[in-house]
Amino acid sequence: MMFVTLHLAVLLAFLSPEIEGQQARYTEVPRDTTVVEGDNVTLNCSVENITNDTSVKWFGPPNYHFRTEGRTSGHPRYTIVGDTSEGEYNLHITNASKADDGRFRCWVREVRQDPAEATLTVKDRATSAASNMYVFSTKYLITLIMQCFVLNCL
Ligand SMILES: *[C@@H]1O[C@H](CO)[C@@H](O)[C@H](O)[C@H]1NC(C)=O
Ligand SMILES: *[C@@H]1O[C@H](CO)[C@@H](O)[C@H](O)[C@H]1NC(C)=O
Ligand SMILES: *[C@@H]1O[C@H](CO)[C@@H](O)[C@H](O)[C@H]1NC(C)=O
Ligand SMILES: *[C@@H]1O[C@H](CO)[C@@H](O)[C@H](O)[C@H]1NC(C)=O
Ligand SMILES: *[C@@H]1O[C@H](CO)[C@@H](O)[C@H](O)[C@H]1NC(C)=O
Repeated sequence: MMFVTLHLAVLLAFLSPEIEGQQARYTEVPRDTTVVEGDNVTLNCSVENITNDTSVKWFGPPNYHFRTEGRTSGHPRYTIVGDTSEGEYNLHITNASKADDGRFRCWVREVRQDPAEATLTVKDRATSAASNMYVFSTKYLITLIMQCFVLNCL
């Protein structure tokens, strides 16, 4: 009995790397992304070796709300883009709003990896424009002062 158990253990140890290689896994996970309110943005997620009866799901703000399953979306501004036959389930968000600001998770039940998660930051269009203007005018002013030094006009 002892021997049989031992043999089984050894056999399983040999087999498991093979099983491991076939296991479902993420080949691309979403990355932290910043978008300006009103723009479009895509969060990527790709998987391989999932079985046909498993679907890729996306959860999003607020609080990991269920958003998509397979190609089906439960949100008017969210669609799944990419070649799903290649395992690409990229989440395309149109007209980003403050409600999209937060954590997103791409999830497949049978994948034994860390959660595929990223933070989407939605920036205010007004703030973004104002800070661009600030950077622009600061650069302009510095250029002007430097030119004045050269031309001795100060
Ligand atoms: C997301 O996937 C698309 C299509 O494969 C690719 O063009 C794009 O660069 C990817 N984005 C990121 C942030 O990796
Ligand atoms: C797992 O995915 C790889 C790469 O896409 C493929 O070569 C392999 O045949 C797949 N294995 C299974 C069991 O689907
Ligand atoms: C999985 O789906 C593919 C394409 O739709 C099909 O060719 C294959 O036979 C399916 N496999 C199983 C085990 O149902
Ligand atoms: C945003 O995505 C929608 C739907 O895919 C598209 O019709 C629209 O032209 C895109 N807008 C921008 C600014 O890319
Ligand atoms: C984008 O969303 C805002 C509200 O957040 C709305 O007023 C506007 O009409 C939308 N734009 C498009 C192109 O759907």
